[in-house]
Amino acid sequence: MSDIALRAPASKARRVVIPAAQTNALCRFRLDQNEVRSADADFRGGQVQIDTAEGGSVLFPTDVGLSLLAALDGDVTVELAGVRALDVGCGSGLYTVALLHGGAAHVTALDINELCAEVTTDNVVRNGFSPDRVSVVVGDVAALVVEERWDVVVCNPPHFPDDPAYAAADGIGAALVGGSDGRALYDVLLARLDELLAPGGTLLLTHSSLTDVPRTRRALEQRGYECRTVQICELDIPLRRYAAHRDVLLSRLYPLRAAGRAQFRGLRFEVHTLAATRATSSEEIR
Ligand SMILES: C[S@@+](CC[C@H](N)C(=O)[O-])C[C@H]1O[C@@H](n2cnc3c(N)ncnc32)[C@H](O)[C@@H]1O
Repeated sequence: MSDIALRAPASKARRVVIPAAQTNALCRFRLDQNEVRSADADFRGGQVQIDTAEGGSVLFPTDVGLSLLAALDGDVTVELAGVRALDVGCGSGLYTVALLHGGAAHVTALDINELCAEVTTDNVVRNGFSPDRVSVVVGDVAALVVEERWDVVVCNPPHFPDDPAYAAADGIGAALVGGSDGRALYDVLLARLDELLAPGGTLLLTHSSLTDVPRTRRALEQRGYECRTVQICELDIPLRRYAAHRDVLLSRLYPLRAAGRAQFRGLRFEVHTLAATRATSSEEIR
């Protein structure tokens, strides 16, 4: 099967290349004697520190997730000061903590994995923020009850296609695998976005090239969202957790690539940081 070239960078998107075989490239990484993994990353003048237990069921920040922090650290046109934000799939609390460092007034941190609630709260406090500025919710975004829409919605969805060979009904499976084409959470998020995001609000999305970036952009643009690629990060497909099932996983990706629904070359792929701003009410009326 021939490779499909990675897409050329969008004109103004910053490009970051993580060399092959490098992991934890976008943070300072530590594993201490108590089996706690720590990731430290600079963000808008602050320092985000995220801890998780080694071997636990809450995803430790990966370069995929951290690429959004790198993108927004270098692009201050996305306003975070004073916003009400929703972190969909908060995991360890990486984006919740970053949003607070960026000046968010309040963050709703949502995850389907109940173990994320405590880890996120611990990381909020570890970073010196009051837990009163965060509402932690356990549940599926498909069923989230919305009382007031948010100014910012942020998400780093799972991006691997599912297969019985490596399907695991645990927290790490929920973090990495998303339905038959890897798009499960992307599609739910898009379906519910107008209910979640206030007019004029912005979706910040960590979008894998394994899950059809053009399809998401088209869906957003058709609904009047102004969609911008802030950054493209090129890196290895993170196959380490599925090392024993690497060939099966790749065999699920090849047909998606052949159908133009996934883009990667060899074991290299891209993560696009998308910022999609919803039209304001007056623009929607026109
Ligand atoms: C790739 S991880 C991202 C975690 C964290 N935001 C980060 O970047 O490190 C995806 C997260 O989404 C959660 N998740 C998956 N499907 C979900 C759904 N339908 N509703 C809410 N959370 C979901 C997973 O449990 C997981 O914590």
